[in-house]
Amino acid sequence: MTAMTPPRRAAVAGESRRRRIADAFSRAASGYDGAAQLQQAVADDLLARLPQSASRRALVDIGCGTGYLVSRLVERHGGPAIGLDIAPGMLDQARRRHAGRSIHWVTGCAESLPLTAGSVDLVVSSLAVQWCDSLEDFLREAARVVAPGGWLGFTTLCEGTLAELQWAWQRVDGAVHVNEFLAESRLVETLRAPAGDRPR
Ligand SMILES: C[S@@+](CC[C@H](N)C(=O)[O-])C[C@H]1O[C@@H](n2cnc3c(N)ncnc32)[C@H](O)[C@@H]1O
Repeated sequence: MTAMTPPRRAAVAGESRRRRIADAFSRAASGYDGAAQLQQAVADDLLARLPQSASRRALVDIGCGTGYLVSRLVERHGGPAIGLDIAPGMLDQARRRHAGRSIHWVTGCAESLPLTAGSVDLVVSSLAVQWCDSLEDFLREAARVVAPGGWLGFTTLCEGTLAELQWAWQRVDGAVHVNEFLAESRLVETLRAPAGDRPR
């Protein structure tokens, strides 16, 4: 019998958590758009903050879900574009919804992107990073794939989001029903730290 070392155990736990997240989003995919008004409003806000015109070789939307943000970007700038998500069910929905657009739909994880270094000029992600085990790994991967002079724009949720829901569930059964989100101060600290020196 081989003893598992702690890093190996952590990797297996991370893998099984990611599989559960992917399965849950795949199962929810067919009804996702009907209940995604908040997600679309957040994506619209991100769109408004991104450069309006850019000469780009390619862009990627990480955790693209059913493809709302990446398709809006293709409308604005043209293709080619990549919509990447960990949940195949979400990508099936995206493929159907945006058939005919020059978007490649790729199954993959934000923390280990299946993309070549320096291959995209715009990396976007909306409301997906909070599902990652490590913000640092997401940032490292985004920095690896973006070309010099390129852009990264992302939105995420911070501590305090859905606090009312959490409070209400606490009174129902005392269990945790809402993700634990990063404190805003920790997010800012991580973004400000030089890449090799980020807090973990
Ligand atoms: C709340 S949805 C947001 C989807 C879309 N960006 C939007 O704004 O409607 C979160 C998405 O992130 C994806 N996701 C979660 N963890 C991921 C990971 N580690 N890598 C890539 N995608 C991930 C989920 O499958 C899901 O489609």
